[in-house]
Amino acid sequence: MSKHEVTPIDNSLDNFMIWVSTQIFFGKTALEHLPEGIDRYGKRILMLYGGGSIKKNGVYDQVTSILKENGYFVVELGGVQPNPRVSLIRKGIEIARENKVDMVLAVGGGSVIDSAKGIACGYYYDGDIWDLAGQTVSTDKVLPVLCVLTIPATSSEMATGSTWLNDTIVPHKKAGAHGPYVRPRVSYLNPEFTYTLPARQTAAGVSDIMCHIIESYFSNEKRAYLQARTAEGMMKTLIKYTPIALEEPDNYEARANLMWCGAWGNNGIIVKGNYVSWSVHGLENSINEACDNIHGEGLAVLTPHWLRWAMNDDNIYRYVDFAVNVFGVDPTLPEREIAEQGIKKLEEFYDKIGMPKKLGELGAKYEDIEKYAERFNIPSTIAYQDGAFVPIRFNDAVEIYKSAF
Ligand code: NZQ
Ligand code: ZN
Repeated sequence: MSKHEVTPIDNSLDNFMIWVSTQIFFGKTALEHLPEGIDRYGKRILMLYGGGSIKKNGVYDQVTSILKENGYFVVELGGVQPNPRVSLIRKGIEIARENKVDMVLAVGGGSVIDSAKGIACGYYYDGDIWDLAGQTVSTDKVLPVLCVLTIPATSSEMATGSTWLNDTIVPHKKAGAHGPYVRPRVSYLNPEFTYTLPARQTAAGVSDIMCHIIESYFSNEKRAYLQARTAEGMMKTLIKYTPIALEEPDNYEARANLMWCGAWGNNGIIVKGNYVSWSVHGLENSINEACDNIHGEGLAVLTPHWLRWAMNDDNIYRYVDFAVNVFGVDPTLPEREIAEQGIKKLEEFYDKIGMPKKLGELGAKYEDIEKYAERFNIPSTIAYQDGAFVPIRFNDAVEIYKSAF
């Protein structure tokens, strides 16, 4: 591709670039810049992908023809599953070492990108990759990760974190490494690549984005005005464009807004300056470890229950902001009523986009509630700690789970 002329960047929605440590090429022409990103890091590539969607929708062909045209050495590893398995990451590390690759190219969603991050961290690491779960990686001995994103959801394309499911221990555990060098170096975001997303995955991805924003917005930091107003704009973006994307899967404007919102939801821009306790994510993680469900669906079930549980006289102002600024609820009503209407509107949104309502729909079992709540006995759980929006302890988690059955 580099041998051909590249469309000039005009900073329109079709074609713009941002570089806040992760360089982003956004729009219909994003892939034209693939060699430009790769050449910075070398010529030998491990290309990672999922269960086959990229082969069906032509993204695989587009990516591999560019790689071939430019003469790169490429070794492929497919088969990454949603809630990505540590066993495949271990295999990827071996392949990467045997082939002495210079970088990992993830083509897919959060599961593929997070697996690429695992391989990148494990490449130079002298122990088992699971040692790094829950750890901050502060060394720069991490292979560069580049991404071609196919689903807006996690922000992993622009974020420092990763999440892996350890399928080699019983019960399964979900955790990952994070750190500045884990953040992808270059990500390619073409909204057209998301046209083939099934409605369920589109909606689950949006519910994940919505939750990242809500968890940042419902924090104890009252002074983060810009983050709060930015978050409101992002939530309004999801509310406006998700139904359009579901109705017209190839509506570029809708897909573009969702994709860019997804990248921002958890890339640090609204998270930093807030103290985010990731309460709903903590609650969902336990369900996910047990049920291997779709992450965004678990969040959609739990978010309204957590919001109702956490509301108190000190933080109700934020519920009022949420209801009035995001959903247009009448500001002259009594505070509690405004707050409750805001949560109801959120539930209506999840319902409209087809999200489940009860934990049982995800495969969770009422009799296992105490097992799910175990992580809220552990003081290192961030949502347990005093700075959390409202700290969640074991009994609180039990109460929230019960309300979600
Ligand atoms: O595997 P293939 O065949 O590619 O199909 C995938 C998969 O079945 C499909 N898909 C993706 N793009 C498609 C497509 N199908 C048709 N057309 C396309 N364009 O969608 C399914 C889900 O893919 P996945 O990568 O699992 O989705 P997502 O991006 O939502 O990632 C979820 C994972 O990320 C973790 C979650 O816990 C979960 O494991 N998270 C990662 C975070 C991070 N790294 O910072 C933060 C998040 O809170 C989250 O925990
Ligand atoms: Zn999430």
